[in-house]
Amino acid sequence: TKKAFIFDLDGVIVDTAKYHFLAWKKLAGTIGIDFTEHQNEQLKGVSRVKSLEKILVWGNKSISDAEFTRLMAFKNDDYLTYIDKMDEEEILPDVTKTLDFLRGKKQYIALGSASKNARMILEKVNILEKFDVIVDGNDVTKGKPDPEVFLKAAEHLNVPPEHCIVFEDAVAGIQAANNARMISIGIGDKNTLHEADYVFSDFTEMDDDFLNELINR
Ligand code: BG6
Ligand code: MG
Repeated sequence: TKKAFIFDLDGVIVDTAKYHFLAWKKLAGTIGIDFTEHQNEQLKGVSRVKSLEKILVWGNKSISDAEFTRLMAFKNDDYLTYIDKMDEEEILPDVTKTLDFLRGKKQYIALGSASKNARMILEKVNILEKFDVIVDGNDVTKGKPDPEVFLKAAEHLNVPPEHCIVFEDAVAGIQAANNARMISIGIGDKNTLHEADYVFSDFTEMDDDFLNELINR
């Protein structure tokens, strides 16, 4: 039977966290809030709205709804100036190799991302057509660690959650996969992602035997 391999986007396929950081830092600066890399870490996997809410709490600021909407647009416009310059070179090491290996084994490939810019980014780096289904920030009402994004992908493919494997770089994303009762594979730091079933620092560390085992289990 076919398994579904569900990939997060930011931090798994491409390193857009650095662009999110620059855009949030600039925005925070305009309203007199300091923003650190450590705080950026806590925004991984978190939606745009939730991210701004957190930054305002950290900066101890309250603003009107109209101002909130304006700041959201400001951040995204700035973020998109970085996205606009992206190309295939920015795909993280061995991601394409892994996608092609799984496709060669006739497995399903899905995207499960909190980002509303997901399709545009996949188009930019020219791998959109490798995905059987895309579920992103436009399709969900509940963010990670809620399992909605991954369960929707599984549903579209008609694959039961226990036959789904999720690749995630965010703690909230690993929790979402675990909450969906899927196999969770952390991409990043072992200590940060200790709740995952497996952790690899990146896809170059994952060999074909491991992927074959996931396919055949
Ligand atoms: C997640 C990122 O993938 O998408 C978060 O890890 C980001 O940092 C979220 O806030 C929403 O992204 P976007 O592109 O809709 O602002
Ligand atoms: Mg991510």
